[in-house]
This record gives sequence, C-alpha cells and structure tokens, in this order.
Amino acid sequence: MDYHEDSARGAWGSKTAFIFAAAGSAIGLGNIWRYPMMVGLNGGAIFVFTNILAVIFIGFTVMLAEFAIGRHTRKNPVGAYNAIKPGTPWKLSGYLNVAVGIGILSFYGVIAGWAVGYFFKAITGAFKRDLSWQDSEAIFKNFTADPLVVFVCFSVIIVLTVFIISKGIKGGIEKWSKILMPALFILIIFLAIRALTLPGAGRGLAFYLKPDFSKFNGTVLFFAVAQAFFSLSVGNGAMMTYASYLSKKDNLVSSAGWVCFFDTLVAILAGIIIFPTLFTSPEIVPGEFIADTGLMFQVFPMVLSKMPGGYVFGVMFFTLLLVAVLTSTLSLLEVPTAFLVDEKKWTRRKAATFLGALAFIIGIPAALSNGGVKLFTKWGVMIKMDFIFISLGITIGALFISLFLAYAWGVKNALKEISFGNSRFKLKSLWIFNIKYLAPVVIVILLIIITNIF
Ligand code: PHE
Repeated sequence: MDYHEDSARGAWGSKTAFIFAAAGSAIGLGNIWRYPMMVGLNGGAIFVFTNILAVIFIGFTVMLAEFAIGRHTRKNPVGAYNAIKPGTPWKLSGYLNVAVGIGILSFYGVIAGWAVGYFFKAITGAFKRDLSWQDSEAIFKNFTADPLVVFVCFSVIIVLTVFIISKGIKGGIEKWSKILMPALFILIIFLAIRALTLPGAGRGLAFYLKPDFSKFNGTVLFFAVAQAFFSLSVGNGAMMTYASYLSKKDNLVSSAGWVCFFDTLVAILAGIIIFPTLFTSPEIVPGEFIADTGLMFQVFPMVLSKMPGGYVFGVMFFTLLLVAVLTSTLSLLEVPTAFLVDEKKWTRRKAATFLGALAFIIGIPAALSNGGVKLFTKWGVMIKMDFIFISLGITIGALFISLFLAYAWGVKNALKEISFGNSRFKLKSLWIFNIKYLAPVVIVILLIIITNIF
C-alpha cells in the first residue's frame, strides 16, 4: 500500500505519526509555561474551567477547519487560501499566519532558551535540596539577566529548529515526536503525584480547581479562548500546514479530538504540579500573588528539590521539556518555511536558515527584557510581544480561518473533505453551528472587549 500521495513535497509516515506530530506541535511551553501563568493572572480555577469549554467548543472547531483546509489544498496557508479563492484578499490572512509564526518563534525561542539553560542547571545539580521560593527566584533572576547566557541558549534553540526543519517531514519532525512525547507525559504524571503529596498542597489545589464564579468576566474569557488557540497551535496555520502532509485515508475528526485531549491533559497536569508546589511557600498567598513569565521556572526546581531522586527526575524533565518545546518551535518555523518552499520555490534549507535568522533578530529585545537591558524590562517587551502575537495575532487568525471556511469555501465543501477517512461525523451539526456562528461571534465580541480594555 502506498501511503504517500505527494511524496515529493513530503508526507507523514502513518496516521499515528500525524497525531503525534500534531500533538507535539500543540504540547509545548503553551501548556507548561504559559498555561499556569494565565491561570495565575486570571483568577485561578475560573480560568481553568473557561479554558476547557473554550477548547471543546471553539478550539476543536477551528482545529478541524484548519485540518480540512490544509489537507484539501496540500499547501501552506498563503497557498491554501489562494488555491480555494484565487486572486482574492483572503491570501492576506495566510500572510498574517506566516508573520505571526515568525513573531511567536522570536520570543518563544527565548523562553525555550531558558529551558536549555535549566537543562544544564539540572545536570550540574543546581537544584539543591529543599529550595525555598526565594532561592528559586534568585536562580531565575540571575540566569535571565545574563545576556550572554540567554543569547547562547536562544541560539541553541534556533539552530536546532532550523536543522530539523531542513531535514523535512518524515526524517525530521515525525521521528522526534513519536517516542518522546509519551515519555514526557509519563514524567509529568510522576511530578504531579509528588506535588500533590507535598504538605500543604491543598491550598494550591483549591486555588487551581475550585472556581470562584464571581471572578468571571470578559477578560478571563478572552484570555481563556486565546490560550486555547495558542496551546492547540490553532490560528496561525500550523495545523493547516501539518495537515497538508496528510493522506485522504486519515480521520480528521478523531485526530483533532485526540490532539485536543492530550494537549489539555498536559496543561492540566502542569497546573497540578505548579500550584500545590507554589502555595507550600507560606509567603505566597493565593489571589494576591502576581504570576509572571518566571512562574514555571521557579516552581519546577522547587518540586524537584523536594523529592527523592529529584536530580534524575530533574534531568529527565528538562530533557523532555526541551523535546516538547522543539516539536513546537518546529511547527512555528514550518509555516513560513512551507510558504517560501511552496510559493517562492526556495529550498527547505535556505528557507529555514533565513527565517531562523530573522526570528533571532526579532527576538533580541525579548532576550534582553528580563534584566539585560533596563529599558526593555521597563517596557515589558516579552509580555507585549506575547499579547500582540498570541492574544491578537492568533485570535484574529482563528477568526479569519472560521470565516473563510464558513463563508468563502463553504461548509458543504469542507464536510466533503472531512468525510474522507471518516464516514460518520457524529457531532456534525454542532460543528457546523460552532464554525458558522459560535466561533466568529465569540471572537469578535472578545476582540472588541479587549481592545477597549488595553
Ligand atoms: N502550541 C504550542 C505550545 O503550546 C505553541 C504553538 C502555537 C506552536 C502556534 C505552533 C503554532 O507551546
């Protein structure tokens, strides 16, 4: 049986390979670094609850839309919009995806670089027994304020990403995702069990899982929806591009379901590690503490330093975190790379190298924003880039994808594409309603609310 239908361009080796690669794209810093930060900033459990609903009703909906468009056209986002509606401004939406991919990679790569640094810290035994919150904070602050170290770590990420992307689909992305993603998952469960059995874990768990509905408001909803998109890698054409290497035999609906499930599970587990551990420090008060970009990097070493075998767990955890991060940076770089390869006929290697260098340059202010250059720290460059590229770039991208599918390509054509490899789509009517009305209406309202607040 020949699985590859378009092997010149590249194709996944099997159906599970696609699910792992797509889950690999989805699971990354979005789950382990950004999700807990968002929970901390947006009132705790109410955010968790809202985010789950956003994943089920909106994230899944747009992911399936991306899968259908990607597989149907077998192209990068710009090419895909252009193939379905040639010569219309829709392709601008594809350009937005390409630009957002580079923009996210530029500061995501910096944080991924921190993970590289922490990997070396874990190996050299920097997380000694019983780290307090202050110890952990000092380690983080000293590390991120050192421009040389931060730049070296950032370049490691960019170089590795460029290298793997240059290797193509099957030999590159697929090979890495298949074994290491399940390993990350198992390790996170271990760490979660340790966090839950720390004395005083209950305080953190309550903040994390007992919703206070009075805290619900438009901002919480906005960030919950944006986080759902970002964490699922939806809204910037990454899933569209990945699906462009898929075969007609694959089931798009169940694939989207599995990716949403694994991604959300890892995020929830990350929170189960972070909050109980964080609130074992008496000086941290739920509801009063301010979550920031350092949250994950301060809390994980704490839990590791408090467990038997912490050293081994630490090395394993940061190794796997790096893998999770790389499988995400790959997909961020894959979107603009596929664009240059498909549309401008560049070689993969040239495209990936050029784009990697571009992301590095754009990322310089972010790399220097945690103490490296005072002005960048004052401006909060990292958080501003996060807001522009993730909260706005991805959310607007997701809006265009749903509008495009529902009103330009047409639900009927999309359903035909979805029916290949899937004869019974049980939640069809719900999906149609969500893609035509729920997703676009909710996103537009939220964008209005958020631009009024900021
Ligand atoms: N979903 C990835 C994460 O959670 C980030 C990402 C977003 C990757 C968009 C690709 C596209 O880390």
